[in-house]
This record gives sequence, C-alpha cells and structure tokens, in this order.
Amino acid sequence: VKDDRIARISSTIRVIPDFPKPGIMFQDITTMLLDPVAFKDSIDLFVERYKDKDISVVAGVEARGFIFGPPIALAIGAKFVPMRKPNKLPGISFLPLTSVTFFQFNNSSHRIICYVMSCHVISGAVISEEYSLEYGSDIMEMHVGAVEAGERTLVIDDLIATGGTLVAAINLLERVGANVVECACVIELPDLKGRDRLGDKPLFVLISST
Ligand code: PRP
Repeated sequence: VKDDRIARISSTIRVIPDFPKPGIMFQDITTMLLDPVAFKDSIDLFVERYKDKDISVVAGVEARGFIFGPPIALAIGAKFVPMRKPNKLPGISFLPLTSVTFFQFNNSSHRIICYVMSCHVISGAVISEEYSLEYGSDIMEMHVGAVEAGERTLVIDDLIATGGTLVAAINLLERVGANVVECACVIELPDLKGRDRLGDKPLFVLISST
C-alpha cells in the first residue's frame, strides 16, 4: 500500500526479539494502539478499501483480530464474528459434523439436517479446525449460525506469518458456506510465504516486514 499514513503506522510497531520463543522476532502492535492517530489510520485504510465491497461479515482472529475487526465492522456496517481459541465459545462442539456431512445429508435426509439446524439454534454449535503455527499448533473455533451461506466475508488479523491461521479461518468460514472475499492484515512477513498458502484467496496488507 502506498500511503503517507503507512510510515507512521510502521514506526509505531515494536519488534521484540526471541518472543515467544528464541528466533522469533515478534511484531508487537500494542505500541501502535498507544498512538491514536496511527491506530485510526490503520482502521481508516481498511475501511476505505472495504466500505463499498458489500461485505456483511468481518471475521476477526483471536486475539489481535479482535482489536482491528470490530472498528472496521462498525464503520462498514458489517457484523463482527470472533474466530476463537478452543473451548472459549459457548456451545456444543460438532467436531465430526463438518459441513461436508451437512451437505451430503442435505438431499437424502431432511430429518438429520433439521436435527443439526435445531442444535445450532438451541445450543450454539461450534466447529473447529486444527492448524500449524510458526511456533507450534493450535485449534480455532467459530459458532455455526453466525454467518449465513453466501455472505461476503472479510477475515482480519494483525499479522500473517506462515498463513496457517488464516487458512484455518478460511476453512471454518467456507465450511458454513461463507464467501471469503479477502483476508487483511496489518503486517505480512513475506519471507514465510504465508500468502502462497492462501492459494487464490486475495490478501491485503498495510506493511510488509522483511
Ligand atoms: C499470531 C498472529 C496471527 C498468527 C499468524 O498469533 O497474531 O494470528 O500468529 O501466524 P501464522 O500466519 O503463521 O499462522 P498467535 O498465534 O501468536 O496467537 P495470539 O494472537 O493469541 O497471540
């Protein structure tokens, strides 16, 4: 992105060496949050890009997608959906009951689909996706029913490294039939080639940090 605001945003991001593990140069956006101009500029840049794109869902990845996602969602008139760490979202986990199962049974057994639907509504069904990280592995979860099939969705996080996190978010959203239009991050670490893992899914970033 070519914009005068980028330099200020970039200058407010602190790099912490060897956190959380030796060899990791942690890009710390909390120092940007201390500068209201830089923080607002970052939100404005995303809003300017997405305000006329008919996006109805902003899905934010825990934890720092929860910082950038809600102000963007409010500004563009979209709902905010949290993509959470495991066992944080209230509800029943439907681990084996993926959308594949969901759609396979769609034509053959209305009773099963009605059962699943009512569980979603009554109990807040949660679906999970395991993914690998630059430093370890994790599980991401989302509520079924938060996003309708076909909804135009933006996925937001502070940073893309290997891309595993965003792939998990995309997978979860696509399992419920969402149309993931684009992923957006404040920072990209291009050396880790996370962009390649997203395939043809567009990625928009404010800062590329080598
Ligand atoms: C960081 C970052 C992204 C993810 C990117 O989160 O905020 O969510 O890693 O890495 P990837 O592209 O290699 O998947 P982290 O896993 O540290 O969790 P946190 O936000 O809860 O601190």
